Amino acid sequence: MSSIVKFNVLTVPEGAGATLEERFAKRAGLVEDQPGFEEFQLLRPVEGTDKYLVYTRWRSEEDFQSWVKGQAFQRGHAQAAADAEEGAGRGHGHGRGGPAATGSEIWGFEVVQRVSAAS
Ligand code: HEM
Repeated sequence: MSSIVKFNVLTVPEGAGATLEERFAKRAGLVEDQPGFEEFQLLRPVEGTDKYLVYTRWRSEEDFQSWVKGQAFQRGHAQAAADAEEGAGRGHGHGRGGPAATGSEIWGFEVVQRVSAAS
């Protein structure tokens, strides 16, 4: 069975990128222990878009759904959730140090081919 990729696509106001990156620098670090987790990357936009991408790769859709529904996801997003309750903008990623992400959407893919450098 092929892996799947989920991007969380974050809208980050100009100047708030550093705040977002700091938050990820302090991330919970729980996702790496999740069954079926394969890879995570935080991608800073350089050209063609101003969206930050949170790239994750999973063994299956079920593994991704289990993470999203489970405690590791909630704990990994505890601050983002608290900020949402405060009702700041669209909620996500706001907090001490000012706003980070003001919106997000999820893109899902099936991995058709994957090639790594032959070492
Ligand atoms: C509801 C929309 C979401 C927003 C706004 C959001 C934003 C954030 C933020 C700001 C952090 C840093 C920790 C914090 O400040 O709380 C974080 C952690 C993380 N997010 Fe999201 N996120 C969302 C949903 C998702 C989804 C659907 C995925 C999967 C593609 C994802 C992947 C991750 C990962 C892998 C981490 C690190 C968690 C860890 O280390 O255990 N996020 N997210």
